[in-house]
Amino acid sequence: MRNYDLDFLKNFSLVIGFLSAVTVGLILFASYLHGSLPGEVDPRAAKRLQARIAPVGAVYAGATGAASQAAAVAATAAAAVSQVAYGGTLDGAVIYNNLCAGCHTSGAGGAPKLDAAGMGARISKGADLLHRHAIEGYIGAAGVMPAKGGNPALTDEQVIATVDWMLGNIQ
Ligand code: HEC
Repeated sequence: MRNYDLDFLKNFSLVIGFLSAVTVGLILFASYLHGSLPGEVDPRAAKRLQARIAPVGAVYAGATGAASQAAAVAATAAAAVSQVAYGGTLDGAVIYNNLCAGCHTSGAGGAPKLDAAGMGARISKGADLLHRHAIEGYIGAAGVMPAKGGNPALTDEQVIATVDWMLGNIQ
């Protein structure tokens, strides 16, 4: 072998060796980068997770109560959109007819109706207690009275005015 062939082989091996080292370095760097990124979540897996942790059920008020309760809940949701419920009115009739009637006129879910056997029988509890139960919510033997009838946008004064209107309109 001639001398310049040996020189060439030596230099060529050096270049190949250097390039191999760079390649290995890049592979290691890439796998490090890959490991440091958060993994992608399969959207189907995310959906399954959501379904697993969703609440199991909703309030069931019997076949007859369900429809009016759903209507009352829908009305509540619509009303809750506006900041001050019903324009801040203190007219109990307006609030009752828009919100409370959904349960208290039909007796849905055990809500006492505006008659002697219903709300009439509760007058003896005293207006203060009835006010408080309407504002804070109340779970009694008959069912669940949601706080402020389910509309947190109502002020305490509005709820008190509505309870007073109910107590004044017992037939
Ligand atoms: C989702 C149905 C529902 C809505 C809407 C609702 N109520 Fe009731 N309410 C009930 C039920 C059920 C009870 C009976 C709870 C019990 O005694 O077991 C009740 C009870 C009451 C009582 C009697 C509490 C007591 O201590 O005996 C008052 C007062 C009252 N509601 C006022 C209101 C007012 C005012 C509104 C509207 C702002 C309203 N409710 C809206 C279901 C409802």
